[in-house]
Amino acid sequence: MKLKMMYSFLNSDINIIEKKLEETIQAESRLLKQASMHTLQAGGKRIRPVFVLLGGKFGHYDINVMKNVAVALELIHMASLVHDDVIDDADLRRGQPTVKAKWDNKIAMYTGDFVFALALELMTIIERTEAHKILADTIFEVTVGEIQQIKDKYRFNQNLRDYLRRIKRKTALLIAASCQLGAIVADVEETIHKKLYRFGYYVGMSFQITDDILDFVATEEELGKPAGSDLLHGNITAPALFALEDATIRSEIENVHEKMESADIQRIITLIKQSGAIEKSVQLSDHYLSKALEILEELPANKAKKTLRDIAKFIGRRKY
Ligand code: IPE
Ligand code: IPE
Ligand code: MG
Ligand code: MG
Repeated sequence: MKLKMMYSFLNSDINIIEKKLEETIQAESRLLKQASMHTLQAGGKRIRPVFVLLGGKFGHYDINVMKNVAVALELIHMASLVHDDVIDDADLRRGQPTVKAKWDNKIAMYTGDFVFALALELMTIIERTEAHKILADTIFEVTVGEIQQIKDKYRFNQNLRDYLRRIKRKTALLIAASCQLGAIVADVEETIHKKLYRFGYYVGMSFQITDDILDFVATEEELGKPAGSDLLHGNITAPALFALEDATIRSEIENVHEKMESADIQRIITLIKQSGAIEKSVQLSDHYLSKALEILEELPANKAKKTLRDIAKFIGRRKY
């Protein structure tokens, strides 16, 4: 089943979200508007707003309130991508040139900030300080995760725990916050919104591990963003970490550097793929997925719960 089919019962609300996203990105500055609209219209899975809406379905769901939080979470994600593409020097995102490629790094910096600010403005509709604290803490953690990734570049003596801590920060916590904030604005009781947070955290871990596997096994056309570039850029992800356990491959990986010839890096990527490291990474992703599904069992039965289960399973075997 396609991702969009899984939440088709939310279709009319998703349309409201799409409209609100476009409405929100209206700026005095033509350039900021163009650059953010460019990223928005390039598409994307919109997984975070979907998690917000599904979290809300466990309580008093009013789309007129929910839409602000859902749009805010997508905008925060989008802003982090615009900044991430500067950090990663990436030219393609969502099948389109990135803001930094179409314009430049400076424009990308301010476009990201602009989109962040719009998200914060939308959140003002929510009076509960708890929600703002969760969001601020999450953005803080994403930043720490991205910085840690820069510090850990080409550091071949890192371990799985370093990697897991990094992806928790840069990816999983925002997905966790999406599930939880959706529930909080719908007045869901604490025991339930905390469970939704844990569900989102485990799903988010699996999501990023899968993303890191795809960097090794998928193509640029399939992903709409560069593939096979994590290792070359020194980002040591799950497949590389598992391959480092093999002494022969380890000595090859330790030679990787930014200016390496394409044929050489391709040869190492092939070695990693043949080492069983991809299978081990899939197991790691599945481990988080089963944790997510376990927590889901503790939630009240409703359509949202079934949809969360379907989406979690999709994430474990996604190809884009
Ligand atoms: C990309 O996120 C960054 C990661 C956390 C892996 P998505 O895969 O959700 O990106 P879009 O929004 O669908 O483009
Ligand atoms: C995810 O990092 C981006 C953020 C969480 C800010 P990546 O660099 O791994 O994601 P892609 O591959 O560019 O989407
Ligand atoms: Mg990155
Ligand atoms: Mg990147």
